[in-house]
Amino acid sequence: MKKVLVATEKPFAKAAVESMKQIITAAGFEFVTLEKYKTKEELLSAVALVDGIIIRSDIIDRDVMDAAKNLKIVIRAGAGYDNIDLNAATEKGIVAMNTPGQNANAVAELIFGMLIYLIRNKYDASVGSELRNKKIGIHAYGYIGRIVALIAKGFGMKVYAHDPFVDRVLVENDGVQYEANVEDLYKKCQYISVHLPANEKTKKLLNYDLLSKMPEGATLVNTARKEIIDEAGLVKMFETRPDFRYASDITPDNNAEILEKYSQRYYCSSKKMGAQTHEANNNAGLAAANQIVNFFVKGDKSFQVNK
Ligand code: 3PG
Repeated sequence: MKKVLVATEKPFAKAAVESMKQIITAAGFEFVTLEKYKTKEELLSAVALVDGIIIRSDIIDRDVMDAAKNLKIVIRAGAGYDNIDLNAATEKGIVAMNTPGQNANAVAELIFGMLIYLIRNKYDASVGSELRNKKIGIHAYGYIGRIVALIAKGFGMKVYAHDPFVDRVLVENDGVQYEANVEDLYKKCQYISVHLPANEKTKKLLNYDLLSKMPEGATLVNTARKEIIDEAGLVKMFETRPDFRYASDITPDNNAEILEKYSQRYYCSSKKMGAQTHEANNNAGLAAANQIVNFFVKGDKSFQVNK
């Protein structure tokens, strides 16, 4: 009997886990969980006899794959898969998948919560700013970016987007102004929401040069990954631009330093919470469970990311 493990250091909602269990067991597979684990050793021992693993931001590196001798498939229930060693997976013939778009709405809604919190000065009753008639720049126009655009329009914002991998026509058909040049996006938009994946090309892409192009009242929201920001450049922005604000759903390495000096213009979630809604847990968890069943039963490799 195939054995499927859900390994989540940050667990899904109980109802989502229950639904995943039903899907997996109805297909005749064994379903096991490892939640809120504290050490890599716990993960290494939990994967020993499993054929498939469903994870969130949990690290699936070569050690984990070495320990999981029967492993055929890893599904990242979510968008970003920088937590899986894809080269090791490919070498070992392990299929890696994600569940694109399933948690996008949850992340997009949070962006506006964070943005308003900061531009209203963390609700300290001092004079803040509004979103209406302001320009928002969406850096990377995927599932999340498109929903951000939709919500931003509801707020009466002017919406701009930069994404070299997305057709200009698709962006314009959404009523969004396409910016071919990333610097133009930053020059034009006081508010920027970034949705880049973490990889070699995007590492430290948001540096001082780029950020300092933002106009007065610059507020950056990062619900993507910490690796995409040059942290020295971020500190320099706080130092040289008293108007600059930064909201992050991922803790930067120099969190304590920024918090100590610039707490009024800075917000960082204590744990990544963009996808942490009942709805997103259900959507991503169920998609992952169905994908794993379809892979084992029909050999379906849709959503494979290590081709
Ligand atoms: C993603 O890539 O899907 C998001 O960053 C959510 O990550 P999480 O599942 O760890 O909350």
